[in-house]
Amino acid sequence: MKILITGGYGFFGYHLAKELAKNSCEITLIDVKSKEEFDEDFKNLILKDKITYLNINLLNNKLEKELDNDFSHIFHLAALLGVQNVLDNPYEVLSLNFKMLDNVISFVNLLENDPILYFASTSEIYAGTLLAGGLTFPTPEQSNLILPDLTLPRTSYMLSKIYGEAICHSCTFKSVILRPHNLYGPRMGMKHVIPQLIKRINQTKKNGCLGVYSPYHKRTFCYIDDAVKQISALINQINNENQIFNLGTQNPEINMKELALTLAKIMNREDIKINELENTPGSPERRCPSTKKLDEITNIKNRTLINTGLKETFNWYWKYRDYYLD
Ligand SMILES: NC(=O)c1ccc[n+]([C@@H]2O[C@H](COP(=O)([O-])OP(=O)(O)OC[C@H]3O[C@@H](n4cnc5c(N)ncnc54)[C@H](O)[C@@H]3O)[C@@H](O)[C@H]2O)c1
Repeated sequence: MKILITGGYGFFGYHLAKELAKNSCEITLIDVKSKEEFDEDFKNLILKDKITYLNINLLNNKLEKELDNDFSHIFHLAALLGVQNVLDNPYEVLSLNFKMLDNVISFVNLLENDPILYFASTSEIYAGTLLAGGLTFPTPEQSNLILPDLTLPRTSYMLSKIYGEAICHSCTFKSVILRPHNLYGPRMGMKHVIPQLIKRINQTKKNGCLGVYSPYHKRTFCYIDDAVKQISALINQINNENQIFNLGTQNPEINMKELALTLAKIMNREDIKINELENTPGSPERRCPSTKKLDEITNIKNRTLINTGLKETFNWYWKYRDYYLD
């Protein structure tokens, strides 16, 4: 297999490449990040024989000029994301996420070896259906999608992904849509709730109070190693084409307050008291995917225990605490 991963420097791309490199895959990672910005983990990853890194901005480059023309699998993971980024830049999220995908599709259209495109969509696409009261839990892939208020900046991200999914359906080549749900683990940046809580717990004074937003909103967090193992198994299945898969875990469901208390325990900070804060505008009350379809096709049902995954994640952030936690 010859694999291309866009957004390869990112959290998902890095872990996916690390997993796929265990098999006999040749992997090319592309990202807008320059070598000067690389962290230690990424420098080590690209030392592997089977992995090549190319600094390519998907908004500027004609990919066929820079890349080989015989990729069998293309993972399009590059995107603008992160709640604050989306709230601050809704126009860029809508227009640039589309441009990046369009560029990748133009490239895939030129390949003559029957490649398959894996598009990273998002769990956010179910948010409008949840608001309208029409979502079942665990949520299956065939749920109807209802749009939330288009004037809200947060809608831009999910809309860019719904549009991306629709484009994939209308392409002539094979595609698979992945809907990741709250993946977490080492090296996930600081945009998401778990690293943010780790940082804020670390900064809380002894016997102090930690404010937790949306304290009773529930999620199911999926350890990144489990997610990429599922993908590694999925790409070996011949009957996966033109399908949609939730990517995540359907249990345990845990609310933000419980998540904060679990992390505080792992960090030996049981002295901390939780102060329940207001709900973050636009944050879905509940998110829990049905993973039955993916579990059956990959024949993988087990997941890393949440305590184990959170410990691994904390250990990684603690190792780099001068950079991430101060
Ligand atoms: N991590 C999750 O739990 C999660 C959940 C839902 C959806 N997703 C989707 O999965 C994908 C990967 O997510 P992630 O968590 O790894 O995000 P990430 O932000 O860590 O990685 C995205 C990468 O895309 C790169 N990129 C952005 N613009 C680019 C451009 N113009 N050219 C080339 N590269 C560019 C960034 O530099 C970054 O390295 C995204 O499409 C995201 O929407 C992730």
